[in-house]
Amino acid sequence: MSNGTNGTGLREHVFLFSRFLRSPRTVGALTASSRALAVAMVEGVDLARPGHIVELGPGTGAFTSAIAERLGKDTRFLAVDIDAAFVREVQRRWPAIECVCASAERLDELVLARDMFPVDHIVSGLPFVSLPPLMTRQILASVAASLRPGGTFTTFQYLHGYGLPQAASFRRAMTARMGGEPSSRLVVRNVPPAIVLTWRKRQ
Ligand SMILES: C[S@@+](CC[C@H](N)C(=O)[O-])C[C@H]1O[C@@H](n2cnc3c(N)ncnc32)[C@H](O)[C@@H]1O
Repeated sequence: MSNGTNGTGLREHVFLFSRFLRSPRTVGALTASSRALAVAMVEGVDLARPGHIVELGPGTGAFTSAIAERLGKDTRFLAVDIDAAFVREVQRRWPAIECVCASAERLDELVLARDMFPVDHIVSGLPFVSLPPLMTRQILASVAASLRPGGTFTTFQYLHGYGLPQAASFRRAMTARMGGEPSSRLVVRNVPPAIVLTWRKRQ
């Protein structure tokens, strides 16, 4: 466990767990993601190149930290979380980052309003397996509408839940929206181990 400077320390785990107790379905995890998972989530995404990057569900900022370290000076970054307590936490830790309190269902309007359309890369920590199916459908539609052709959507699924019907059905729905299968890699240094999935929107 790290010392908390990158969003994955004891304080962050306790904070995330306390929010989980209040809203288990939208938080969807008992602990913050590890540094190893955060690094795997941004591997292969060129964040230094000028463009538009979005993070969905930053929570305590495990992925935000890895993104912020790699952002180029002309790259615009927007983080979106539905829970105001997480938004305040991200704003406190990274005052220069724009983090809005909204549902990812509205991503298309959020990026249009900020002149960030189309988006190049989306990194998501959303717990799709536990979100209401209607919300997931709306988020997938909004993600697909916001990304440029060739843009990427990266998320993860826990290894132990990978074979569950909801997890498989999410992957099928995303593959249909993006027009192709995802690349995948296993990250064992996370509790629990996770599979990182990246879809590239068909040109
Ligand atoms: C499992 S936590 C992930 C936190 C962090 N990315 C990590 O991996 O440690 C899920 C996050 O998604 C957010 N979330 C859930 N539903 C959302 C929605 N519809 N729109 C935006 N954020 C949402 C929760 O508030 C929470 O911050």
